[in-house]
Amino acid sequence: MPTNEEEMVVTPWKVAGKVDYEKLTRQFGTHPLTKEILDKFRKYAGNLHFLLRREFFFCHRDLDWILNQYEKGEKFILYTGRGPSGPVHLGHILPWIFTKHLQDVFDAKLYFQMTDDEKFLFHHDFSIEKSVGFTYENALDVVALGFDVKKTKIISDIKNIDALYTLSIKIAKHINFSVVRAVFGFEESTNIGLIFFPAVQAAPCFLESFLTGKNVPCLIPAAIDQDPYWRVTRDVAPKLGFYKPAQIHSKFLPGLGKGGKMSASQPETCIFTKDPPELAEKKVFNAFTGGQPTVEEQKKYGGNPGICTVYQYMYYFFEEDDKKIRNLWENCKSGSMICGDCKEILAQKVKSFLLNHQKKREKARDTVDEFFLK
Ligand code: TRP
Repeated sequence: MPTNEEEMVVTPWKVAGKVDYEKLTRQFGTHPLTKEILDKFRKYAGNLHFLLRREFFFCHRDLDWILNQYEKGEKFILYTGRGPSGPVHLGHILPWIFTKHLQDVFDAKLYFQMTDDEKFLFHHDFSIEKSVGFTYENALDVVALGFDVKKTKIISDIKNIDALYTLSIKIAKHINFSVVRAVFGFEESTNIGLIFFPAVQAAPCFLESFLTGKNVPCLIPAAIDQDPYWRVTRDVAPKLGFYKPAQIHSKFLPGLGKGGKMSASQPETCIFTKDPPELAEKKVFNAFTGGQPTVEEQKKYGGNPGICTVYQYMYYFFEEDDKKIRNLWENCKSGSMICGDCKEILAQKVKSFLLNHQKKREKARDTVDEFFLK
């Protein structure tokens, strides 16, 4: 059957097509968030974070277990990361915003891995300097979000490999080539650095246990595309006497273009944290919406917020107030609000977010070194 829709692909290196999150949950064998789990978050946080209310974080592994352990007094650590291959955009920081929330609520230590080795190995034109350069650049965005310096360690794989190497080889010894070939799609021509790399991404899951000599549960908040790593890691964990890491998975923030694809290779459709606010405003004004071709038709028939990228940005990032977001949906549907109005609201919010973030990002230069693992 001929179709214009690109086939769905979700791997750590490629996300394409329209993402069907229910199908992914089934394919990957993860579990939807249950009422019991959400009730626990509500209990500990006092309310439900909007990224949970809006189902941006939507499935998990062993989250029920880790929360039960927490209830019994066993604290967990958090682990997330970033492949530093370019500037950070808004889609990257949503999971980090949620990670910061988890750190606050559960008073949890965080390991944040910068996989500059992975990006060096993956991109033919990357030098070591370029990869490590992006690690420091991107770390400023992490620090700007307000993580607690006393509870947060950023790891540059290239600079800090001594901290990870013993664990990585212990892990690697239990992973066959045939497994990573099947899970990651490696080929004969794949360089052997990439073939070893999954062991390096697994290592921080166990770092706290390794360093303290006692088993410490680990929760990974991350986008769903990283799941293949955790599947492999979870198989190895019991062989090394560690708990299997738990995960909470997020969706992807769509781009501003038609079909909602977000990609750094289409810079006009994503907002980078370093974008001058006026440029971001322009991107918002060029965004794909669910509006009618003319104002008259919009007023008569109403718009379609379900396919509108402006609405999605409000929903997942910029309008936490449930009543306001409902009004936006209804006013769009009824035609009482036109796309220009909506874009104006989003543009203002994006601009003030960027101004604020960029200030904190500059300030982060003073403290970023303290965050790096020594
Ligand atoms: N491989 C990830 C990327 O390319 C980076 C990463 C490393 C990561 N460890 C992680 C992401 C843990 C989430 C959680 O983006």
